[in-house]
Amino acid sequence: MQVTVLGATGRTGIHVVRMLAARGHTVRAGLRSRKRAEVLQGLDVRPVVADVTADPDDLVEAFKNSDVVVNTIGAPDPEPESVNLVDRDGGITAIRAAEKAGVPRFVQLSAQFADSPDQGDRLVRSILFAKQVSDSVLRKSALTWTIVRPGTLTDEPGTGRVKAARHLEPGRIARADVAAVLVGVLAEPLTENRGFDVVSGDFPVAPALAVLD
Ligand SMILES: NC(=O)c1ccc[n+]([C@@H]2O[C@H](COP(=O)([O-])OP(=O)(O)OC[C@H]3O[C@@H](n4cnc5c(N)ncnc54)[C@H](OP(=O)(O)O)[C@@H]3O)[C@@H](O)[C@H]2O)c1
Repeated sequence: MQVTVLGATGRTGIHVVRMLAARGHTVRAGLRSRKRAEVLQGLDVRPVVADVTADPDDLVEAFKNSDVVVNTIGAPDPEPESVNLVDRDGGITAIRAAEKAGVPRFVQLSAQFADSPDQGDRLVRSILFAKQVSDSVLRKSALTWTIVRPGTLTDEPGTGRVKAARHLEPGRIARADVAAVLVGVLAEPLTENRGFDVVSGDFPVAPALAVLD
């Protein structure tokens, strides 16, 4: 499968890129800027500049011939202006570019409570509202979509074990485990046109995704 990953230099994105390459996928690693390409050193992936706030035609070009786009981007700071520019408007730009490039599938890294931001932590509410908008555009798009809504992200080592369901109590999850889920959905048709929460849990990723409610 040819997979383009947006936010490949991010703390979750880099796990996604590594896991995809290890599974033999052809990976295009989307960078906001070439300046950070050294993060990909030693990986069998093709770097491609993919800034969601730049010219949308460049994104279309970056996505061409991809079977899937996996969007792991996040705004560099939590101010509403930045979040709206990157997570909301940039997310929408990426969705539209994928449609234009003829990409069949789009996997979005969202956040727990992005589907009900008023119930989420007030400190991250602007992020949740921004993601709610781009998630909703994705659901209504021409793409086969998957929206993964993790709890609070940690940099602890991955356990490979998760809990996934339409809605879960607030929880935490290692970025490496979120990455395993983002990669795992590519092999599980039940995750097509689905959004679900995911937190750390007891089940290996594939069986956890295979029993989604
Ligand atoms: N923190 C949490 O507890 C939590 C919980 C649930 C969900 N999330 C969400 O999970 C996602 C990943 O989080 P993370 O902490 O792993 O992210 P991160 O380490 O902050 O990485 C964000 C990535 O997005 C890229 N990026 C920023 N602006 C961009 C742009 N204009 N165009 C293209 N790429 C751009 C960054 O590129 P550079 O490397 O060049 O800056 C980086 O690769 C985010 O959307 C976040 O909101 C976070």
